Amino acid sequence: MDMKIDGDRLLKTLDTLKTYTDTPGAGVTRFSYGRQDVRARKYILERVKAAGCSVCIDPVQNIRISPSFGPAGGKSVMAGSHIDSVRNGGWLDGIYGVCGALEVMETLSEAVAKDPSLKDRFTANYEMVIFAEEEGSLFGSCMTGSKFISGIYDEKDPDLLKNDEGLSMRQILEGLKDLPEEDRQVYDTGGSLAGDLTWDLASVRTMIELHIEQGPVLDREGLSLGIVDSIFGMRVVEVEFSGVGNHAGATPMRERRDALTAAASAILLVEDMAKSDGEHRSVATCGKIEVFPGCSNVIPEKVRFTVEVRDRDEKKIDDLMDRIIDRIHALAQERHISCVVTEHSRSSPLHLSRRVITSMETRAREAGIPFKVMDSGAVHDACMIARHCDTGMIFVPSIDGRSHVPQEDTHPRDLIAGAQFLMDTILAEMS
Ligand code: GLV
Ligand code: MN
Ligand code: MN
Repeated sequence: MDMKIDGDRLLKTLDTLKTYTDTPGAGVTRFSYGRQDVRARKYILERVKAAGCSVCIDPVQNIRISPSFGPAGGKSVMAGSHIDSVRNGGWLDGIYGVCGALEVMETLSEAVAKDPSLKDRFTANYEMVIFAEEEGSLFGSCMTGSKFISGIYDEKDPDLLKNDEGLSMRQILEGLKDLPEEDRQVYDTGGSLAGDLTWDLASVRTMIELHIEQGPVLDREGLSLGIVDSIFGMRVVEVEFSGVGNHAGATPMRERRDALTAAASAILLVEDMAKSDGEHRSVATCGKIEVFPGCSNVIPEKVRFTVEVRDRDEKKIDDLMDRIIDRIHALAQERHISCVVTEHSRSSPLHLSRRVITSMETRAREAGIPFKVMDSGAVHDACMIARHCDTGMIFVPSIDGRSHVPQEDTHPRDLIAGAQFLMDTILAEMS
């Protein structure tokens, strides 16, 4: 069965959603449960409702969208991704997979309207999913929404997850009740955060997430398609250094216990240790740092920074992180700085479905698409869903391998081809 997506419509949808940002001219900043999240949800929900879909929103604000193309009560094939972004991020991370899934849904809907007999040829329904809070921009933990769906997070976590102002996820979700009536409709403001927050995914045959690669491999090798094999795992800790604050002019250099210079040494150490990985695969990043009191004329008393380690091998992640933590403690001791390390979040590396990978490889080969089976250094909601059903991921090239920055981009021809490959994959899984 063949169906052609409407490439121009897909690009227009993406162009519209690109404007839903808190930082116009400086990339996309669209945090979960915020003003731009409301606008993006409204836009997408209007489209899916116009196509006759039913919409179910859970208390964490993940969205499940069900058209009725296939056999009632049977299996379904799911596609989707997230709509939130990092601060000053790109216009494609996450939302491309949502727009691709929407394009598939509209293409299917039009085809079935034209030829209702098509329905009888499907052995499964199609569903769309929009995950909430994938980036960790609010609570510092990636894949938050899908962690609730899959049971990694449970009813106690809305109180434990806190934003930079100390507001808990529960407080933020409860605050949605105060939105104006027309905005409130894009959320579930009546749902309870107590009890079971997981989704029943037993009926989902396959989940496919379409995404930009976010790294340089496909662009460098001139390939238009990536079929994801493994997704890296990650572990994040927060380090707090406490020294002695004092006057920046009156305190001699030999008498200082500066928490920030200690943190600077620790951060360079993290980089050196990751670079010395023999396989050149482990990556480590200190992406967030806070300095207290943060004045040019006060010796920094306290510094908090994150250390994140990723690899495709969980043992290597733990081994590198444990060695980093030991060295950071030793460094702090040498500088007479007290040091507390707190585990923040983690996710395990994982292999996606061999069946789905093989079927996508065959399809790409038959269509003459130059592709590569590859790892993903970035994590994705697919990691959580893969625990419950056959899951696959499709990558398109990122120009110059840039992502999580305003320069993030993909050639329109690759965006369209990726969504068409999603369409073809969904049709194969529904047949
Ligand atoms: C999600 O974007 C990640 O940090 O991999
Ligand atoms: Mn993403
Ligand atoms: Mn991202």
